[in-house]
Amino acid sequence: MSSKRSPQQYVEAMPVLKTLRRVKRLRLFEPSVGVGVVFLVSTFVICSFFYLDYRELAEKFGFSGQPPERFTWSQEKRGSVEKRVHRVEFLGEKGGGECDLFEGNWVWDESYPLYQSKDCSFLDGGFRCSENGRPDLFYTKWRWQPKACNLPRFNATKMLENLRNKRLVFAGDSIGRNQWESLLCMLSSGVPNKESIYEVNGSPITKHKGFLVFRFKHYNCTVEYYRAPFLVLQSRPPPRTDRKIRTTLKLDEMDWYSMKWRDADILVLNTGHWWNYEKTIRGGCYFQEGVEIKLEMKVEEAYKRSIKTVLNWIQSSVNPKKTQVFFRTYAPVHFRGGDWRKGGNCNLETLPELGSSLVPNDNWSQFKIANSVLSAHTNTSEVLKLKILNVTQMTAQRKDGHPSIYYLGPNAGPAPPHRQDCSHWCLPGVPDTWNELLYALFLKHETSHTWN
Ligand SMILES: *[C@@H]1O[C@H](CO)[C@@H](O)[C@H](O)[C@H]1NC(C)=O
Ligand SMILES: *[C@@H]1O[C@H](CO)[C@@H](O)[C@H](O)[C@H]1NC(C)=O
Ligand SMILES: *[C@@H]1O[C@H](CO)[C@@H](O)[C@H](O)[C@H]1NC(C)=O
Ligand SMILES: *[C@@H]1O[C@H](CO)[C@@H](O)[C@H](O)[C@H]1NC(C)=O
Ligand SMILES: *[C@@H]1O[C@H](CO)[C@@H](O)[C@H](O)[C@H]1NC(C)=O
Repeated sequence: MSSKRSPQQYVEAMPVLKTLRRVKRLRLFEPSVGVGVVFLVSTFVICSFFYLDYRELAEKFGFSGQPPERFTWSQEKRGSVEKRVHRVEFLGEKGGGECDLFEGNWVWDESYPLYQSKDCSFLDGGFRCSENGRPDLFYTKWRWQPKACNLPRFNATKMLENLRNKRLVFAGDSIGRNQWESLLCMLSSGVPNKESIYEVNGSPITKHKGFLVFRFKHYNCTVEYYRAPFLVLQSRPPPRTDRKIRTTLKLDEMDWYSMKWRDADILVLNTGHWWNYEKTIRGGCYFQEGVEIKLEMKVEEAYKRSIKTVLNWIQSSVNPKKTQVFFRTYAPVHFRGGDWRKGGNCNLETLPELGSSLVPNDNWSQFKIANSVLSAHTNTSEVLKLKILNVTQMTAQRKDGHPSIYYLGPNAGPAPPHRQDCSHWCLPGVPDTWNELLYALFLKHETSHTWN
């Protein structure tokens, strides 16, 4: 808890923390009466909804004190009993293979999160929202429930056993790094001796490193991240070009490090957040094909071409017998009333946008561009070479999952309200779900290969 918090924020934090602490204490120290207490507390909470005007409270405190009633009772019943009975298991022997994992709902699940940030040393300070003072914990308690099947519960030991002697590589922008750090935490939760997990060059987890390679000693496997926000090659311009051209993105060449990605056993790619005017042309970064600099080319066209280059590279340079390639789709941002420079905010969001028809106040162009290229390609035989982690839709609902003003570290206090991070994700949080989907698809692939 930061001492720099304003009184207003302190008041906001109290009710939830008090309740959570109380519940935690009871669970921890009186296990024998635990069931009865949980029942009593639930009854009390449920009754409270009839007596307290929930919305008024939520408005007054600026956030919700409990998940809305429809989650506390109906979800539990539908989620744990009825739905589990009727749905096939994605990894079960009776099919499930046709199930679209990306169509479904977020359901409240008390057994989440899968880990605590304080137990994981592989996290950037910017993702440790609760440690940085974020008062609500609801954002850690949502499980993704596909419509037609059940996901396997994440089992770190099982994943590590399947990763033995293998390399798992993430390449992409800082949202990819967000996902990579999430997976490091999820996997390390299954390793008692944390000292046995280390960066091979001794590099610390800090931002803006070219790449980081973590080895899980007992499994002889590595989980790696390569910073490549465009996936294609960014380099110096050819000699004697206009001085406004500081760098170029070679749309027809892969990032230099792609030679390290090629031989991975699992490769998870993403790109999107840097394909805009601000992060390219405005900063003197123009597009290039062959030796020609395309001064007139629009960012959208350049993005489209870069994805084609990535797909061609997968087709020509990656061995599908060795490497499983995943492309994670765009993760929407949620800046309400602006963007990161213009005071856009998300710090009052404590609940997902459940069951909505999804109208994030985000520009969907990045998603649409990538989607059109990917859809066209996955319609062909190349589908065998590339799996889409189609997280855009489910992630769009999670406006509650961003660090907002809680990214500065435990001692710095919240950031000023006009400087919010509504594009990265708190951990534990939404990227854990992307990794649960990755886990399910990876294990599916492993078992089908063992049978063949
Ligand atoms: C996790 O996987 C390991 C290895 O496959 C297995 O021994 C263990 O029982 C699993 N744990 C749970 C909780 O299912
Ligand atoms: C460790 O894994 C690598 C592949 O990543 C393999 O070449 C090597 O033989 C493995 N080492 C041992 C001791 O199994
Ligand atoms: C959305 O993207 C298009 C194309 O990049 C751009 O012209 C437009 O201004 C953007 N709209 C918003 C609301 O950002
Ligand atoms: C991802 O899912 C959305 C919504 O279900 C769908 O419209 C889109 O075509 C999918 N994209 C790909 C590349 O499969
Ligand atoms: C996808 O493939 C099918 C058959 O191979 C074809 O009929 C259909 O037009 C293709 N769709 C697109 C969007 O290319």
